[in-house]
Amino acid sequence: MAAVHERESWRPEAILGRLVVLRRHRADNLRAFTRWYADPEVARLTRYQQAPLSSDEIQRFFYTRIMGSDFLAMAIHLRDTDRLIGTCAFSQLDGDNGSTLFHITIGERDAWGHGYGSDATELMLAHAFTRLALHRVALTVFEFNERAIRAYQKCGFVVEGRARQAIFRDGRFWDEIHMSILLEEWEARQRQARAGG
Ligand SMILES: CC(C)(COP(=O)(O)OP(=O)(O)OC[C@H]1O[C@@H](n2cnc3c(N)ncnc32)[C@H](O)[C@@H]1OP(=O)(O)O)[C@@H](O)C(=O)NCCC(=O)NCCS
Repeated sequence: MAAVHERESWRPEAILGRLVVLRRHRADNLRAFTRWYADPEVARLTRYQQAPLSSDEIQRFFYTRIMGSDFLAMAIHLRDTDRLIGTCAFSQLDGDNGSTLFHITIGERDAWGHGYGSDATELMLAHAFTRLALHRVALTVFEFNERAIRAYQKCGFVVEGRARQAIFRDGRFWDEIHMSILLEEWEARQRQARAGG
């Protein structure tokens, strides 16, 4: 019973947001994954390699990481229609240091730029800092991915460093930007939001 309770709070059935609801992944989400990760634009924004993942690689990624236990992954659904639009996850969950790495991909292109990614990120941060009792959430993003950087900044992530010219894309080198948010910063934002500002 305790184990069931622990699993529920670690990876809840659903986390309800303003625009999206995060749900546990199901095996048949693989079909959507295969479509998303075969999209060259998704690959351009998320991968070190130029080429999209092959369907074998996507399948391996889905079963070992997304459905696996060392990766806390949640599917992103629209709250209104329940349409599946993407995925987000924590990896490298480090209990000793209270830290983790955040990842997010909205695979459905028509769902970009509607606030869904920020809403999902806010939900994952609340989960990290309350239920998981973490102290720090970090991420990396390519310098040219301005939409993602803006979405992360809206959620309170700040730039903490950059790996200079770490990625070659579209004919030139770009930095990989390292961002993070700490518990105290997240709490200050919550207080500010409650105070109406
Ligand atoms: C990155 C991602 C999760 C962001 O989610 P989203 O729902 O598209 O983003 P949101 O609508 O919440 O916020 C985007 C913000 O960037 C702004 N924006 C959009 N395109 C932009 C651009 N080209 N340059 C600068 N800002 C841009 C939007 O106006 C919005 O800011 P605002 O609310 O202040 O107006 C999503 O776009 C995605 O998954 N993209 C493909 C994969 C990817 O890039 N993953 C991240 C890898 S690190």
